Amino acid sequence: MDLSRFTFRLNRFIFGLVFGHSVKYIIFSSFFFSSNQQEGLGVTSYKADPWCARFYCHMLYIIFFPQMVRLPAGTFTMGTDKPGIPQDGEGPPRRVQLDAFHMDIYEVSNLDFERFVTDTGHVTEAETFGDSFVFDGFISEEIKRAIDKAVAAAPWWLPVKGADWRHPEGPDASISDRMDHPVLHVSWNDASAYCAWAGKRLPTEAEWEYACRGGLEKRLFPWGNKLQPKGEHFANLWQGTFPSNNTAEDGYVQTSPVDAFPTNGYGLYNMVGNAWEWTSDWWDTRHSIDDAYNPKGPASGTDRVKKGGSYMCHKSYCYRYRCAARSQNTPDSSASNLGFRCAADAAGTP
Ligand SMILES: *[C@@H]1O[C@H](CO)[C@@H](O)[C@H](O)[C@H]1NC(C)=O
Repeated sequence: MDLSRFTFRLNRFIFGLVFGHSVKYIIFSSFFFSSNQQEGLGVTSYKADPWCARFYCHMLYIIFFPQMVRLPAGTFTMGTDKPGIPQDGEGPPRRVQLDAFHMDIYEVSNLDFERFVTDTGHVTEAETFGDSFVFDGFISEEIKRAIDKAVAAAPWWLPVKGADWRHPEGPDASISDRMDHPVLHVSWNDASAYCAWAGKRLPTEAEWEYACRGGLEKRLFPWGNKLQPKGEHFANLWQGTFPSNNTAEDGYVQTSPVDAFPTNGYGLYNMVGNAWEWTSDWWDTRHSIDDAYNPKGPASGTDRVKKGGSYMCHKSYCYRYRCAARSQNTPDSSASNLGFRCAADAAGTP
């Protein structure tokens, strides 16, 4: 083995050993934040050192911290014959064959999304509309007083003026201590734009569910059938009485870092819980039972499929933190529990 290759491997080994997973955000936050604070808003720009920020740091990041994992081609059972929420179209189970593809290991974080916005000037739909949906338990009394409408079927959702990805609970909130948490208040259109910028795309629902299952067949969760093996928490969900009492037994009242909790069999984090994740499919609750090959969902629709549930899900009202579970929103919707991750084709692989 030549010396440069050996040094590279050694570096990588030591980085992994010493820093584990979380610290990459600290390292790269410090690259981005050190010299570039704009008026204390925590807004970064590449202008101070474009070469380092845009190329060198980025290459280091990619080399030391792979962001995607290649999932092997395979056939799996999509959906379930024991639907937890039958009206969501969780059944019938059907055999689905997929080519190999790449999947983001983590949900897209605030730090990731900030790089995208800095680079492209993208304005999210929540920012354009001027409001987004926020869970009322996290809204300050001051902001609550200004709100006059709510969602009749789900009164805990309130449209908050000025809520967006940088201000998840409204204008008086900030993400500066949550840069490694999933980005929220991003619509399907925003998510698609991000993935395209990154040279990726949103996963299909079939790819997402295959990734969620982590190589296990017909299990409820990414890690098996038991929600808390040996009493351990494997996902960021709601503990306590929803919506009044969040005991945060899993360690988090709201979102958690994108690398919190154990990975599934494919090395993916937070496939269920934390934030809902957009997929590329249109929503329909009726499915053909025929075997399918790389299915991409209905040709048209009004809503897009989201998967995985969120930190707000509790079995009593949102038993949707299962791989087969699904829900939907219009492509311009955004909320304080909805994010995404990207996928990519695995070129030249069967
Ligand atoms: C929330 O639930 C926990 C556990 O059941 C209980 O100990 C606590 O008193 C409750 N808190 C409130 C504010 O109801």
